[in-house]
Amino acid sequence: MTIMEAIENRHSVRAYKDIPIDMDVREQLDRFTEECNAESGLHITIQYDDPDGFDSRLASYGNFRNVKNYIVLAGVPGRDKNDFRFRCGYYGEKIVLFAQQLGLNTCWTALTFNKKKVKEIVPPGETLCMVIALGYGETNGSVRKSKSAEDVVISKGTMPDWFRDGVEAALKAPTAVNQQKFAFGMKDGDPAIRIKGMGMHTRVDLGIAAYHFEAASGKKVTVL
Ligand SMILES: Cc1cc2nc3c(=O)[nH]c(=O)nc-3n(C[C@H](O)[C@H](O)[C@H](O)COP(=O)(O)O)c2cc1C
Repeated sequence: MTIMEAIENRHSVRAYKDIPIDMDVREQLDRFTEECNAESGLHITIQYDDPDGFDSRLASYGNFRNVKNYIVLAGVPGRDKNDFRFRCGYYGEKIVLFAQQLGLNTCWTALTFNKKKVKEIVPPGETLCMVIALGYGETNGSVRKSKSAEDVVISKGTMPDWFRDGVEAALKAPTAVNQQKFAFGMKDGDPAIRIKGMGMHTRVDLGIAAYHFEAASGKKVTVL
């Protein structure tokens, strides 16, 4: 599966089959995650065969079923907390799309997991950002409502093809409660992204959308 197919086919999946993730798939995911950590300075880990992370009332209210694997987004935030959240979004989604290419399904979760239990596995001095459910989904999820490119582009005039491809891919990115509170434009000849409007977890969303834009357009995006 190409990265573009992964972007197209990825949807949030909350119910999983009771099948362990293949060992060779784990190895590839772990290696990829290590590369993301080296690049980002984050400490992202993957928990396998551990139902505790989603053993909570919130998770069952949220229709999560049989989540036994999850990605833990954590690290030392440093002074710039917004940059930490952005990086968690960007690299978390990079791993999500790689997992999709390996035949897995995912769901980002800021709220509907067992925070107390997940915090126990985060080393002292590190901050837990959020977690991502992972596994072989009961289904592949479904297409949801989305804003249009015109809703999220603030530059005037016609868009070059690569820019439109980037924006269309960003509109397929997951955002908290599907809020899509981001906007794209051009700044000094380069594509740029910023938050548009108020909402929860908009910095993480921004990182996720930026990764989709870059993967589809092949251009680095400036964060405003
Ligand atoms: C930062 C972030 C936090 C999220 N938190 C939750 C959550 O706590 N519980 C949940 O069920 N879904 C959560 N989601 C999933 C969104 O509801 C979902 O991505 C959105 O509705 C778009 O649907 P899609 O992922 O199928 O494209 C979260 C998504 C993101 C990006």
